[in-house]
Amino acid sequence: MLRLTFAFLALLIMSIQPLSAAPDPHSYANHDQVRITHLTLDLEVDFEASQLRGFAELHLDWIDENARRLVLDTRDLSIESVLIPSADGPWKRARYSLAKAEPMFGQALRISLPDRPERVRVVYSTSPTASGLQWLPAAQTAGKRHPFMFSQSQAIHARSWIPLQDAPAVRFTYDAHIRNRAKLLTRMSAANDPSDQADGVDHFAMTQPIPSYLLAIAVGDLRFKSLGERSGIYAEPSVLDAAAYEFADTEQMIDVTEALYGPYRWGRYDLLVLPPSFPFGGMENPRLTFLTPTVIAGDRSLVSLIAHELAHSWSGNLVTNVDWNHFWLNEGFTSYVENRIIEAMYGSERADMERVLSQRSLELELAELDEADQSLVLELAGRDPDDGMTAVAYDKGHWLLRTLEQRYGREIFDPFIRQWFDRNAFASVSTDDFVAYLRSELLDKHPGKFRDDELQDWLHYGGIPGGAVAASSQAFDLVDGYRADWLAGRTPAADLPAQQWSTQEWLRFLDGLPDQLPVARMAELDQIYSLSGAGNSEIAFAWYIKAIRTGYAEARAPIEGFLTRIGRRKFVLPLFTELVKRGGEDRRFAEQIYAKARPGYHAITQVSVDQLFAE
Ligand code: BES
Ligand code: ZN
Repeated sequence: MLRLTFAFLALLIMSIQPLSAAPDPHSYANHDQVRITHLTLDLEVDFEASQLRGFAELHLDWIDENARRLVLDTRDLSIESVLIPSADGPWKRARYSLAKAEPMFGQALRISLPDRPERVRVVYSTSPTASGLQWLPAAQTAGKRHPFMFSQSQAIHARSWIPLQDAPAVRFTYDAHIRNRAKLLTRMSAANDPSDQADGVDHFAMTQPIPSYLLAIAVGDLRFKSLGERSGIYAEPSVLDAAAYEFADTEQMIDVTEALYGPYRWGRYDLLVLPPSFPFGGMENPRLTFLTPTVIAGDRSLVSLIAHELAHSWSGNLVTNVDWNHFWLNEGFTSYVENRIIEAMYGSERADMERVLSQRSLELELAELDEADQSLVLELAGRDPDDGMTAVAYDKGHWLLRTLEQRYGREIFDPFIRQWFDRNAFASVSTDDFVAYLRSELLDKHPGKFRDDELQDWLHYGGIPGGAVAASSQAFDLVDGYRADWLAGRTPAADLPAQQWSTQEWLRFLDGLPDQLPVARMAELDQIYSLSGAGNSEIAFAWYIKAIRTGYAEARAPIEGFLTRIGRRKFVLPLFTELVKRGGEDRRFAEQIYAKARPGYHAITQVSVDQLFAE
């Protein structure tokens, strides 16, 4: 009886902690036993049903000789059948079971494969509410005439449109055959031929192995414009020229990054501008960065986003975090490389300003974060990996690398980083790997510059370690001076040299305005500089935050317009947060806007904002 109870208990525990046996904390996959090496996708994109239908064929490498089962990640997929090749020709059915759905992680698909086949085919369709896809009606596109669909797989949404091992430790090549009856152009994170015509049928091959979170697809009324020998831009026709102007420096950015960190290994580097509901600023899908249209400011002032996504071609796509606890290896390295690209392209003044802004956003976010979430190495088991998407991974990670750069000098540090990329190209790495490399290549070879306890402090403790040197910018010091003069009534708003300010200087100016600023003074700025309704999304956003905090009601209509037009989470969530924080009238205003805007938002943005209103 006791034995039975134990057996029952063990079974029960296994079923409530289904991820505990898997090597990745956010995946059910048994990739320590069998691994996907190649994926073939054959899918129909059905805009009427908001559904992908077809099959995914997985090539398998059986690592563990005792393994007889393949466990895949899925979420909201309808599995029609699982097939394996048979000796006499036709595919035959394999036995499988689909585990209970878990809200954060989806459903494990357990396929019984006693004969350890080389390939398995899953015939399936996606749900119209797949978390990794957004289906946009024509009304939500720039052109208003054709529907649009795009994916966002990072961190764990690939499983909602493909059954696979959704863990960044697993890399595979892929090819895809994609059809749509709307005869729109499909692009993927693979080789895209710029001369492809939109006829509803597209083929792709990705010959470099990538992790699942870099699988991407977009289908819409897309046109191409070349930016250089190996770069170009896809966008809806009405957006194409503005985008091409904005991102004209892309080709040169690739050259500059190669000079620093070695060859760009992915062939072409194209950009794809999405509709404004895209939940992020950018996504480093290999060969084809996905972008929010909100970086098209008209003056090329927000192109650090391009530098960032391009940098991922080394940090992240080439050298990948082994799981999401080590996300800082992706984003901290990328933020550092981004800043080096900006410096090489636009000079150190601009790079300094952006570093000050980065450290400032870190300071603000640290004030809100639990101590445990302030260390570079995270403990995200059982949690949504998106919880790790904070300024800690980005800006604290960046700051650690900057600190090392300062201690060792660029003659030593630059080759050190370049070698990290070369040695780990197309591999997945953990913080331990980085620490071992850092110890052997820097700490031991050049003793006395960086202590081991400092390193531990950065990696495993909250806050900013004492030895970190804060960035500074002379241009910002001037802005601070002008702000103080204006606040003290020494300089009228019209006499500020603000017409010459860069976007970064404006952001600095706005950030330093006190939350108690009288409404009349907000109005004074607004009348002269037309900040409400500003075309630059970063400036508009920073202004609206201040407008809410100071109770400047004139900005209400433009805030409503901004929140209904744009679905980028970085803008939407803080604005709603500020309104909700103030309560009363402001909260009702927020609720009324959200009721209108929510249907147009991406699932990722919806989940975050829903949470806010539920608190
Ligand atoms: N890879 C990220 C976006 C991401 C991270 C999506 C985690 C899902 C989960 C991308 O490279 C990124 O960092 N985008 C930033 C822009 C950047 C300039 C800080 C963004 O979207 O805000
Ligand atoms: Zn990034």
